[in-house]
Amino acid sequence: MRNYTPLDRVVMEMDKAVRTVFASPPVTERPNPADARGDAELNEEERRRVAGLMRVNHAGEVSAQALYQGQALTAKLAEVRGKMERAALEENDHLAWCEQRLGDLGSHTSVLNPLWYAGSFALGALAGLAGDKWSLGFVAETERQVVKHLEEHLERLPPQDHKSRAVLEQMKEDEGHHATTALKAGGAELPEPVKQTMRLTSKVMTKTAYYL
Ligand SMILES: [Fe+2]
Ligand SMILES: [Fe+2]
Repeated sequence: MRNYTPLDRVVMEMDKAVRTVFASPPVTERPNPADARGDAELNEEERRRVAGLMRVNHAGEVSAQALYQGQALTAKLAEVRGKMERAALEENDHLAWCEQRLGDLGSHTSVLNPLWYAGSFALGALAGLAGDKWSLGFVAETERQVVKHLEEHLERLPPQDHKSRAVLEQMKEDEGHHATTALKAGGAELPEPVKQTMRLTSKVMTKTAYYL
């Protein structure tokens, strides 16, 4: 592997950030789970509700990207980076699937995405600085909280919306795996106050991104 100068790294990170927020970052070989499902009749209230939920999930995926990238920047072990690489790539799938669903619903992604990205990148980098076991623990806890969110969202989806359901179900499965991967790679259990702060932060984000 070649050695990058600090300036190389800054440019590379900015490229990733711009791609995540404004364009399409690279995805895996997996098809969009929504493609296999038929379209459903949604009334205006339902369409808005689903769009709000999918916008929250999309914003969450932008944050997940930033978190992984911030962490990769400061992670000490190359092994840790490698292990989390597939997870980061799968987050790009989630990002693309949510964005496509939002487009199908005639809606838009969160206008605050650059803000979510910047905040999460800083958090990821900080967690990485604290050491690999903490940063992996941070990932594991984030993923666990996302799984809980997705469960709530699955309940709030109109029952006939099989497309959104297929996307969220696959995401839920993936996030569960990401949590396990992070723990197996050596992630530590975070102190309860940290977990609580994370829950609070994500509450602010989810409430805002539903509308904006
Ligand atoms: Fe994800
Ligand atoms: Fe994930």
